[in-house]
Amino acid sequence: MSTDSQLKELALHDISVRFGGLTALDNVSLRVAPGRIVGVIGPNGAGKTTLFNVICGFVQPTSGSLTLDGRPWRPRPHHLSRLGIARTLQGVGQFAGMTVLENVMVGARHRHAESEALAALERCGVDRYASAYPGALPYAIRKRIELARALVAKPRILMLDEPAGGLDADEIAWLGALIKATGTTVLLVEHHMDLVMSVCDEILVLDFGKPIALGSPEEISADPKVTEAYLGAAA
Ligand SMILES: Nc1ncnc2c1ncn2[C@@H]1O[C@H](COP(=O)(O)OP(=O)(O)O)[C@@H](O)[C@H]1O
Ligand SMILES: [Mg+2]
Repeated sequence: MSTDSQLKELALHDISVRFGGLTALDNVSLRVAPGRIVGVIGPNGAGKTTLFNVICGFVQPTSGSLTLDGRPWRPRPHHLSRLGIARTLQGVGQFAGMTVLENVMVGARHRHAESEALAALERCGVDRYASAYPGALPYAIRKRIELARALVAKPRILMLDEPAGGLDADEIAWLGALIKATGTTVLLVEHHMDLVMSVCDEILVLDFGKPIALGSPEEISADPKVTEAYLGAAA
């Protein structure tokens, strides 16, 4: 890997997070290089959302460090959009008293917010709901609105926490195509293996907070440790 790409990446170095006696993340290291789609998978409770929350600054690591563009970095939730990092949260979290268009404008960073918000809604195929209130809309539509809100800021790093949760196979296929088409760096936290396998350049597998595998989709799907972790979780 060239020095230049190391300078432009987000990296986690030996991150551990403990909640009382529970180790949610155990010495996790990960590099998210520019333009790459990096997946984080693992059974329920593996620590995926915790890893996401560490990068968003919602959770302070117990030990370890982060770097952004090669420099030590302590993430703060209110700094993310300025740094070009946009995220969607697990589930849907929209303001009920605002229209869809207004909700997406919240994510826009500068003037022309309304036309940019409309363009993001259009890209996600939901512009016809612009003047509706999100509470009345089906879940799959709200997930698309959530994506539009993240995309409107034209982030350099797009972080998605279980974007496929609650979606059917057609919606998941649509989502995969959209993720591939964004052209930005993506960190995708997901437990739908099919989606992750079809869009990611590389995948980190967590099991009880421990990194058990890191590699290409081909390497991950051929790794017996990964199959074991999932079978163990299903038993
Ligand atoms: N704020 C918290 N306080 C205590 N325990 C937590 C907290 N957040 C997560 N956990 C625990 O940490 C583990 C990992 O959770 P999480 O990161 O949400 O997993 P995943 O997203 O992979 O399902 C789980 O055992 C969960 O109960
Ligand atoms: Mg989670």
